[in-house]
Amino acid sequence: MKHYADLNEILYHVGFAKKDLQGATIAVLPGDPGRVETLAKDIGTEPMPIAVHREYTSWLTHVDEQPVLVCSTGMGGPSVAICLEELARMGITHVIRVGTTGTIQEKINLGDVIINKAAVRLDGTSHHYAPAPFPAVASFAVTGALAEAAAACGAPFHVGVSVSSDTFWPGQERYDSFTGYVPRCFQGTMKEWQALGALNYEMETSALFVTCQALGIKAGAVCGVVAKRTESESVAPTSAYERALSYQIKIVRGAIKLLLKK
Ligand code: URA
Repeated sequence: MKHYADLNEILYHVGFAKKDLQGATIAVLPGDPGRVETLAKDIGTEPMPIAVHREYTSWLTHVDEQPVLVCSTGMGGPSVAICLEELARMGITHVIRVGTTGTIQEKINLGDVIINKAAVRLDGTSHHYAPAPFPAVASFAVTGALAEAAAACGAPFHVGVSVSSDTFWPGQERYDSFTGYVPRCFQGTMKEWQALGALNYEMETSALFVTCQALGIKAGAVCGVVAKRTESESVAPTSAYERALSYQIKIVRGAIKLLLKK
């Protein structure tokens, strides 16, 4: 039995009720609460704030006159899954993660965008929703819409597998941490993911894909490249983020238009 929320029931973590969604079924999910307002304003029309609670900042916007939720998830799998549980209860059926990432492939540049069709499950949260052999895969429909929109706006985009890690340092094999130590189980792993053709590291997509599969939500993910791990462990200057974000906005708007037509 599914547990749907009542229209006026304020959900405990996200801090708003189903009535605030005005019937929206699509959600755009950045990690950073600070990006929500910009995304709501730049992706759609008539943007308005709904709630600010914990790591979840929520705005409603409109694409082709249809309401679309923009809600931050915070960093890492646990807060993504909590957010999805509550959005599912309020009738959200499609989600698009808009994040940042570090590429591990030479051919991908800072400021490019990566559309992930699947993710390596280096997280804990997804293992609470499905056993380890279960794949973390995106929705074919949402991924197709993202790729079509990316091609249409001329974005430098790449489609492939992400490595989703619970940690920014050891799980992504970064040695520039406070101690400089990477546990043995992660030493040499970047080379292995590269050899297997994975494109990028980030921290939320595997939890998103598996949780969405478990909840019956269709999910896609588009991330902007802000670190190029074949050259440096550092995150690049904001110009890379801004370049990627300008494409992400066009891609997400285009993908939502395509999904609304289906
Ligand atoms: N986010 C990550 O998780 N890793 C990066 O390298 C950049 C952004």
